[in-house]
Amino acid sequence: MSDDKVSLVIEGREVSAPTSASIIQAYSASGGQLVTNVGCMGQGVCGSCRCMVRRDGQREVSMELACETPVEAGMQVAFVSYFQPKRPHVYDLDTLTDGWQILDAIDEVFPQAKHCRHCGGCDRACPRGLDVQKGVEYAVSGDVQAAKDVFSECIMCNLCTLACPERIRPNHLGLFVRRALAALTLRPVELMRRLRQIESGQLTVDVSAVDRPEGRP
Ligand code: SF4
Ligand code: SF4
Ligand code: FES
Repeated sequence: MSDDKVSLVIEGREVSAPTSASIIQAYSASGGQLVTNVGCMGQGVCGSCRCMVRRDGQREVSMELACETPVEAGMQVAFVSYFQPKRPHVYDLDTLTDGWQILDAIDEVFPQAKHCRHCGGCDRACPRGLDVQKGVEYAVSGDVQAAKDVFSECIMCNLCTLACPERIRPNHLGLFVRRALAALTLRPVELMRRLRQIESGQLTVDVSAVDRPEGRP
């Protein structure tokens, strides 16, 4: 890491860190406890380290991933906590037998989606820069392939859900679309062959050979 240091404020605390550090590295090195708001620690895939960032001299706050964003002098950072949804979506993908049902299922499970007011809040909130609003529009219009493509890079940080005034929960809609399409797609041939061999007894699996952490049954 470079020896040049910058000062910034993370979670209300003044922190000094090398310019090559990410926000989360700076926070950790300064004694901040990484109990929540961290998962993959730098891979940029878990969405846990979502945070609000205001840069020196800027009025706008941007939403970023703390493990991927380098520190800057004068930056102010506040993590956004995980929240439990009050209303989990319940659906059974086994009830989908063909693609004609997906649109009805979207309407049933995500009735708010058709009330998108195109405010762009989800787009501004997304630290991945995904075209979230467009993804919602694709899903409610039945273009589920296009919706799946929009959400394929989603890391489920939930910031679009926090931002949405219509409580659409765009990322969960995206996940539903991806799951539904996968459920209606042929499984990999090798996987099907192996499962059939196990079911018919041709291939046996010795579950006792699986390594388990000490003390676990
Ligand atoms: S679509 Fe939503 S949950 Fe997915 S990365 Fe963007 S803001 Fe996060
Ligand atoms: S934040 Fe919600 S209402 Fe606004 S554009 Fe996105 S999905 Fe539509
Ligand atoms: S810790 Fe996983 S995305 Fe940052």
